[in-house]
Amino acid sequence: MLPKRYHPALVALHWLLALLLIALLAAGTFSLKLVPNVQPEKLNLLRIHMAMGISILVLMLLRLVARLTTEHPPAASTGNAVLDALAPGVHWLLYALVFVMAGSGIGMAALAGLPDIVFAGHGSLPVNFDALPQRAVHGIVAKLLMLTIVLHAGAALYHQFIRRDGLLSRMGWGSRH
Ligand code: HEM
Ligand code: HEM
Repeated sequence: MLPKRYHPALVALHWLLALLLIALLAAGTFSLKLVPNVQPEKLNLLRIHMAMGISILVLMLLRLVARLTTEHPPAASTGNAVLDALAPGVHWLLYALVFVMAGSGIGMAALAGLPDIVFAGHGSLPVNFDALPQRAVHGIVAKLLMLTIVLHAGAALYHQFIRRDGLLSRMGWGSRH
């Protein structure tokens, strides 16, 4: 019999990653990006941003393994065939967008020599990162990820409060059978 809820490790990773991702998207948009590279505090902001970005990547990889190796509940229904067909696609899209964010961030950091500058204190930052194609990808995919998160959270709330099908409990702890 399929379980009523996701695996507790997946549940823990889901909510931890939701917090970390929302925090990093907000910090990147409203803090990191607005501070020019010539300002000394930029190094500190980059250090925190890069460390958090890499941590998110590692946790997201662990989560993918947990998702692929544990049983999950049967697909939920909204009563609309088109919406039901979209749901798994949105879940996989969330994984893909997070991996593109981490990949473009790492690419940008490698090309600009950031590990040496930010963590070892050797060399200085370029005026900005605008010449790197990864910078554009990182900025555009950040917006796509925000939109997808809003869509996903909206769908979860629709299930929970309009259809009243108790969907949130599937992403919560408790007996699974
Ligand atoms: C902020 C980033 C978020 C990401 C990246 C994310 C990602 C995902 C993914 C990929 C799944 C499928 C299960 C898995 O593979 O882990 C899922 C399930 C779920 N998420 Fe999120 N989520 C986020 C935020 C939220 C928020 C804010 C809510 C609540 C309002 C929410 C509620 C749920 C629920 C209820 C499920 C279970 C759906 C089902 O029963 O099939 N998520 N989430
Ligand atoms: C995986 C999750 C990550 C998220 C959610 C994230 C989020 C963001 C956001 C929202 C911005 C501002 C983009 C804009 O509005 O144009 C940004 C900029 C940036 N991120 Fe990330 N990032 C992540 C990972 C990384 C990683 C792993 C690195 C490097 C190792 C990195 C390096 C940078 C750099 C160098 C900038 C440019 C700052 C500037 O233009 O001054 N990011 N990030």
